[in-house]
Amino acid sequence: MNQVRLNPRDRRRFLIEASKFGVAASAAELLSGWASPAFAQRPTDRGAPGDSAPPTGTGGLSLPLPPVLMAGPGAPIALDAIQATQAFTAAGSTSTMGFGQPYLGPVIRVKRGTSVPVAIRNRTGEAITTHWHGLHVEGRVDGGPHSAFDSGSTWSPTLDIDQPASTLWYHSHVHGRTASQVHAGLAGMLIIDDPDAPPSGLPQTWGVDDIPLIVQDRAFDGQGRFVYRPFGPAVMQGFKADTILVNGAIRPRASVPAGLVRFRVLNASNARIYQFGFEDGRRFHQVASDGGLLQRPVAVTALQLAPAERAEIVVDFSDGRHARLLSADDNNTFMGGMGRGMMGGMMAGGALPGVRAADGRFEVMQFVVDRSRGGAVRELPAHLAGAPARPAWGEPVRQRRFELSVHAGGMGMGMGMGMGINGQSMSMNRIDAEVRVGQTELWRIVSNDMAHPFHIHGTHFEVLSHNGRPVAFETTGLKDTFLVQGEAELRVHFERKADRRTPYMYHCHILEHEDAGMMGQFTVS
Ligand code: C2O
Ligand code: CU
Ligand code: CU
Repeated sequence: MNQVRLNPRDRRRFLIEASKFGVAASAAELLSGWASPAFAQRPTDRGAPGDSAPPTGTGGLSLPLPPVLMAGPGAPIALDAIQATQAFTAAGSTSTMGFGQPYLGPVIRVKRGTSVPVAIRNRTGEAITTHWHGLHVEGRVDGGPHSAFDSGSTWSPTLDIDQPASTLWYHSHVHGRTASQVHAGLAGMLIIDDPDAPPSGLPQTWGVDDIPLIVQDRAFDGQGRFVYRPFGPAVMQGFKADTILVNGAIRPRASVPAGLVRFRVLNASNARIYQFGFEDGRRFHQVASDGGLLQRPVAVTALQLAPAERAEIVVDFSDGRHARLLSADDNNTFMGGMGRGMMGGMMAGGALPGVRAADGRFEVMQFVVDRSRGGAVRELPAHLAGAPARPAWGEPVRQRRFELSVHAGGMGMGMGMGMGINGQSMSMNRIDAEVRVGQTELWRIVSNDMAHPFHIHGTHFEVLSHNGRPVAFETTGLKDTFLVQGEAELRVHFERKADRRTPYMYHCHILEHEDAGMMGQFTVS
C-alpha cells in the first residue's frame, strides 16, 4: 500500500487539530487516517471497497465535529476571526482563516425568543463581515457588505432570534472578497432551536445521531497549499475543485449507530452544485430545507444542493450496512457549452473530484456502522411536529423581475463584460429596490445562460413555480436560496427593516459571480 509519511512537525499539527474535535474519532482511527493514502488525493486513489467490509483502507480521517457554541442572552457569540495555518493533507499546511479556530468556525446554536449579543474580533489582517445567512434580523445587524469592519476592531451587534428551528450558516460578505474569504475558511453553521415547538420526533443527540456535514471543494498544490485563482473560467463557471472536504477533512469517515441518523447538510462550496446519493442507491428522507422542517419527511434517493442551500436528511443504518455518500458531477457551465465529459469538467473549473465509485459518481465521505450502538430513534414520524405552518402572506402587492446575466460594459471581468442583475453590476452606492415592511411581493428570477443559486437576505420565500411548473415537495418549504435555471417565481414577504446605510442584498450565491457583481441591494421600510 502506498503509505504517506508525515514528518514529525505535520504529525504534531494533525494531533493538535484532531484533539479539538469531539466526535467519532478515536486516536486509533485518527492515526489510521493519517497513514492512509487518502491524504495523497491522487487521481489513482481508487477509493474504498463496497458494502461487504468496513471501508477502512482508504476512507481518510474521521469526520471532525465542529465545536458547539451555545449562545444566548448571557453567553455572547464571542469569536476571534483569525488568520491561521492548517494541514489538510500530509504534504504540508496552507494559510487559512477561521472564526475562533484555524478553519471554519464553531456550530453556533441559539434559541428562538432570545436576544443574543455578538462580539466578533477581527484579527485577520483584512476587513471582514459576519453575515447570518437565513437569519431574520434587521439590515443593520445582518452583516452584509456595508458592515465591514477592519482588522483590530470588534463588531458587536445584538441578534433578536425569532423564526422557526432551522439550520442556517454564517460567513464573511465583504464586497469583492466574499469568495476568497469564504474559501479561506470564514464560514460556519448556525442552528436555531425552538424551545416552544413540540419535539419533532427526529434524532437529536448531537454528534451521535444528529451530525453536521459542511461540504466544500478545494484544490491543493504539491505542498498542501490551497490553490485558488479567481479569474477566467473560475469566475465564469465559479470555482470548482477536485478535493472534497466535509467539516474541513478530506473525504472523511464517520462512525454511526445502527439506527436512524439525521444529517444537517450545508453546501458551503463557492460554486459546486452537488447531487448527493448513496453508492448502494438506498432511500433516505429529507426532513428540512433552508427555512426549517418540512411538513412531512420525503423519501428520496438523490438530494441536489446548490451553494448556500441546506437540507436535513435522515438515513437508516439499522441494517448495519456501511455506506458511501457520492455525488454526481456539476455540469453547470456558462452558456451550456461543452456541458459534459472531460471538456465539460475542465470548463467547469479545471478539475473533477478524483475518487470515483464504479458508477462514475465521486466520493464525498463514508459511514461506518457501529453495530454495537443502536439508534435512539427507530421510526420516522409521519408528520413533523414543529414544522413551520404554511405562511399566510396573502396575495403579492407587486411584481419585480430580476435577470441574472453577463452583460456588456461592466467592469468586473475584463473584455468589457460584467456580471450583473438586470444589466447592472452591483454598486454599493445604488439601491435597486425599495420594499415596504409587512408586504408580500412576487419576484420573478430569470437565469438563461446557466443555473444561478438566487439568495435573498433577511427573509425566506416560497417557490411558486420553476419554468411554469410547481416544484417538488421538498422545495415547497421556506427557502432563502433557490437554484434557478430558466425562470422561477418566488413569493417573498418582508418583516424586518433595512435602511439605506445597511441595505439587504439579493444575489447569486456562486461566490465568484457575486463578487463579480451579480448582486443587488434593497431596503425595507
Ligand atoms: Cu450567504 Cu448574501 O449570503
Ligand atoms: Cu444571506
Ligand atoms: Cu451565478
